[in-house]
Amino acid sequence: EKGGYDHFMLKEIYEQPKAINDTYRGRLLRDEAIIKMAGIEDNMKKFLNANRIIIVACGTSWHAGLVAEYIFEDLARIPVEVEYASEFRYRNPVITENDILIAISQSGETADTLAAIKLAKSKGAFVFGVCNVVGSSIARESDAGAYTHAGPEIGVASTKAFTTQITVLSLIALRLARAKGTISSSDYRHHLLELEMIPGKVEEALKSDALIKSISQVYKDSPNFLYLGRGYNFPVALEGALKLKEISYIHAEGYPAAEMKHGPIALIDENMPIVVIATKKGHYEKVVSNIQEIKSRKGKIIGIVTEGDVQVKELADHVIEVPETLEPLTPLLTTIPLQLLSYHIAVMLNKNVDQPRNLAKSVTVE
Ligand code: M6R
Repeated sequence: EKGGYDHFMLKEIYEQPKAINDTYRGRLLRDEAIIKMAGIEDNMKKFLNANRIIIVACGTSWHAGLVAEYIFEDLARIPVEVEYASEFRYRNPVITENDILIAISQSGETADTLAAIKLAKSKGAFVFGVCNVVGSSIARESDAGAYTHAGPEIGVASTKAFTTQITVLSLIALRLARAKGTISSSDYRHHLLELEMIPGKVEEALKSDALIKSISQVYKDSPNFLYLGRGYNFPVALEGALKLKEISYIHAEGYPAAEMKHGPIALIDENMPIVVIATKKGHYEKVVSNIQEIKSRKGKIIGIVTEGDVQVKELADHVIEVPETLEPLTPLLTTIPLQLLSYHIAVMLNKNVDQPRNLAKSVTVE
């Protein structure tokens, strides 16, 4: 059932090229330059007239929501707020009939997310669900939705659910951008083309597995890790840190790289490994200067870089390359090495990768 892999998590990491493909298949029609999603088409007016989109989710799904915030605002120019479902539902939020709530959940059973939906519905908001499990409670409670089609995810640490959530949310953002005219026809086509190339590029990224395993060996006994990223890759830094905490029980924190100077830089010494997402697009020069600041304090840098990178390679202790793509799609690639890093470290530490202590696959308690 693990298809020859030692753990479900590893199997699911390797399934991502197919899962992403399954997610956009039948929806992304590149020849016609069309994105076809019934849940969006049927409610296009609501989406176009919405004051704002509120995204609610927990854990990894919340990180996918943060990536979506960047892409919705950047491409479709719709204001977005991303909330932890558990905070949203308990703080008397301002919600109106002109708001759209997007709930993201792999399992579709997360109690806090379900409660947030019910609250938003009671205030008249339109609820759109992005779930993986077909027929799940959140899918049923939503007014409309889009499934991720990632296939069953067994490992407690979410992997393919995350990348397929980003895929669906990217399709939605692109569809809305096209309808609103906030993206040019040529940019739109370019995004569709690049999205179709993502599964192949994820395959490429997976080829760094052996390298990542050797890096894991060096840092597996570190008690702390920092993860840094900017822009679209800030949520990826959070996700990388969560993956490591969850399955290896190593303390890790994700930060927007520019926030380092407001506190976390005090933590840096020669014993601190820092994973920095430093792909070519998106504040590259700024991230390079963050790396210089870290190096001058002797921190150990594991850089996630674009293929062919020169600058970071000179500064970092290790670099892991991912193929180049458009900036909004980089999270689909930069996430892969972070998943593998946490996986290998957890295995080396003899942890229960698929069923980490204290955690359940779906959190149905509030
Ligand atoms: O099923 P959901 O997407 O609603 O679950 C949300 C979180 O519980 C989940 O993402 C959790 O953080 C994962 N274990 C992370 O790997």
